[in-house]
Amino acid sequence: MINVDKIREDFPILKRTVHGKPLVYFDNAATSQTPQVVIDTIVDYYSNYNANIHRGVHTLSQEATDKYEEARIKIQHHFNAKKAHEIILTSGTTHSINMVASGFASLLNKGDEVIVSALEHHSNIVPWQMLCEKTGAILQVIPMNDEGGLEMAIFHQLVTTKTKLVFCNHVSNALGTVNPIEEIIEAAHKVGAAVLIDGAQATPHIKPDVQALNVDFYVASAHKLCGPTGMGMLYGKEEWLQKLPPYQGGGEMIETVTFEKTTYAGLPHKFEAGTPNICGGIAFGTAIDYMNSVGFENIAAYENELLIYATSELLKIEGLKIYGTSKEKTAVISFNVGTIHPYDIGSILDKLGIAVRTGHHCAQPIMDFYKIPGTIRASFSFYNTKEEIDALVVGVKRAVMMLS
Ligand code: ALA
Repeated sequence: MINVDKIREDFPILKRTVHGKPLVYFDNAATSQTPQVVIDTIVDYYSNYNANIHRGVHTLSQEATDKYEEARIKIQHHFNAKKAHEIILTSGTTHSINMVASGFASLLNKGDEVIVSALEHHSNIVPWQMLCEKTGAILQVIPMNDEGGLEMAIFHQLVTTKTKLVFCNHVSNALGTVNPIEEIIEAAHKVGAAVLIDGAQATPHIKPDVQALNVDFYVASAHKLCGPTGMGMLYGKEEWLQKLPPYQGGGEMIETVTFEKTTYAGLPHKFEAGTPNICGGIAFGTAIDYMNSVGFENIAAYENELLIYATSELLKIEGLKIYGTSKEKTAVISFNVGTIHPYDIGSILDKLGIAVRTGHHCAQPIMDFYKIPGTIRASFSFYNTKEEIDALVVGVKRAVMMLS
């Protein structure tokens, strides 16, 4: 059970006002807010043991290295990876995807096929398009339907022995749809294709088990689950990470360097060139501890209550249409009212202290499918309340009155 009043005490930002009104933060799919315990971890790092890692014999460096590697183990356990070195610490989901896409350039041949879903964020489309341009591989798309789900019958027709890779998000950022990734992974593996799952939008709500999923790559960002920005992870099965070449050359990722030949370090360092976001990694570990102390079952149950309540209240507004009505969805509501531009409603909501995202949400193909320029997206977290949803409904009604 969530005690929302108590949880809200953990987030100092929730006490602030915007334009003289209490902040109602419904842009959680863009980034989540930060609990005090994560803020304290960041302050503690810079106040007490800021140092470079894996390099120094001195105490500060050893303390920072220990904490950073402890965070990797927390992340390993959270995702249930078999080995800590299967967790590569990155700057975020986009970095993680690019790392894998760039690595596959040496493994794909002209005419190979790769499959993407129609529900992807641009970060899970563009790197693969770049990969196809480089290699001559062919990009195929699993189409979407009106509910915002995937046409799985077509997916099964697309998967053949020519398929080398499939990439799909676990949850759509624009619509909240939870995709049938188990079915996708199983079908891809039957033809020997690898699968990358973008978990950026799933990980704030669901605790993924990469071994149970039997997924090849799973990627996520810390800032969506109460951690800092500029920090993320790539889980890769050991055999895949061994096969892929390094993404960047530099310090830390080598074993030996001479002008004649360089040999690379083992995992995970092969993929972690340069000084990483040390503080970010440690704070990512704290954020994972915090989320687990709230409990993912509690989070999912409470957010689902918010989703059901908000859906029914918003649908009472005349002319309001929700995009993304799949049965399996997280607490995201994308909507428009009549022909009013989403930006106009979003701006009025901001004046009322209510933060939502408006636009195409970096998922233009979804907007093209619905033939709309964008939506207003309200995305909820376990620290939101029904009273805040009431404020959103009043705000939307007021905006519609002003703009009609
Ligand atoms: N990917 C983030 C979003 O959906 C930024 O808003």
